[in-house]
Amino acid sequence: MNIRKVVIPVAGWGTRSLPASKNIPKEMLPIYNKPVVQYVVEEAMRAGVEDVVFVTNRDKSVIEDHFDYNPQLEAVLERAGKTELLKVVRDVAEMVNIMAVRQKKQLGLGHAVLCAREMVKTEPFAVMVGDDLMFGDDAGLTQLVRVASERDMPVIGVMEVPADKVNRYGIVSGDEIAPGVWSITDMVEKPAVGTVDSRLAIVGRYVLTPDIFDHLERIRPGQGGEIQLTDALASLARERGMLAVKMGGVRFDAGDWVDYLCANIYFGLMDNKLSESLKARLREILC
Ligand code: G1P
Repeated sequence: MNIRKVVIPVAGWGTRSLPASKNIPKEMLPIYNKPVVQYVVEEAMRAGVEDVVFVTNRDKSVIEDHFDYNPQLEAVLERAGKTELLKVVRDVAEMVNIMAVRQKKQLGLGHAVLCAREMVKTEPFAVMVGDDLMFGDDAGLTQLVRVASERDMPVIGVMEVPADKVNRYGIVSGDEIAPGVWSITDMVEKPAVGTVDSRLAIVGRYVLTPDIFDHLERIRPGQGGEIQLTDALASLARERGMLAVKMGGVRFDAGDWVDYLCANIYFGLMDNKLSESLKARLREILC
């Protein structure tokens, strides 16, 4: 299975990130020196993806602009001889091909993915939820693409969550067929605490086959009155089988303030130029 395209839904309001996201898309909030969405696109690139389809709305065009050239800024940097920065800025524009489709009504994650149908057409593709950030060798989408190619099946990423947090996620049940790989038997979006045995939660990474679109067309609004991707996945899993893979590496939910702040520190610590002074400053603050 060759995955060339990724769909990244970015039309959500980002209420969890208010007031920071009042006039700036939540996907453009910085984590250290890059916007959240750049980390997601970089993860897609590491998995071999070439084309990014943003499912966007009228207030989010700045996301597309971020992955385009900025001739004025580049001219200023060139004149000032700031060649390193110039390269940083140009590299972002040259990362991937960008496409965008509007989600004119916010009817849910499943609806957002369905909006990308005409751009994805008939090939297998990935979906990445922009709030979920994943890092580590071989972590994230790369892991899913590998399993999907080996087994020629749709694959979704999962992680274990505490029993009292299942109501925040899509929850998957299945039979473990290899360490960290489950054959999915059922899936439910944000079940009430205490109503499911499984603690396998869907993280925002999916490798899907184009037949998902027919299921998205057919399903009725589900949890919260929205067209839920999880409901269409459950229907597709029943029809053709689907795997869940336990994701490795570190995950941050950029819409959660503690995780957002931790992600900033994590990336600061990864940068040799910053790490020692950052550690010293953190020690001062924590004492
Ligand atoms: C979406 C999905 C949910 C998944 C989650 C992961 O929910 O509907 O199944 O567990 O992403 O981040 P949202 O967080 O958009 O409500």
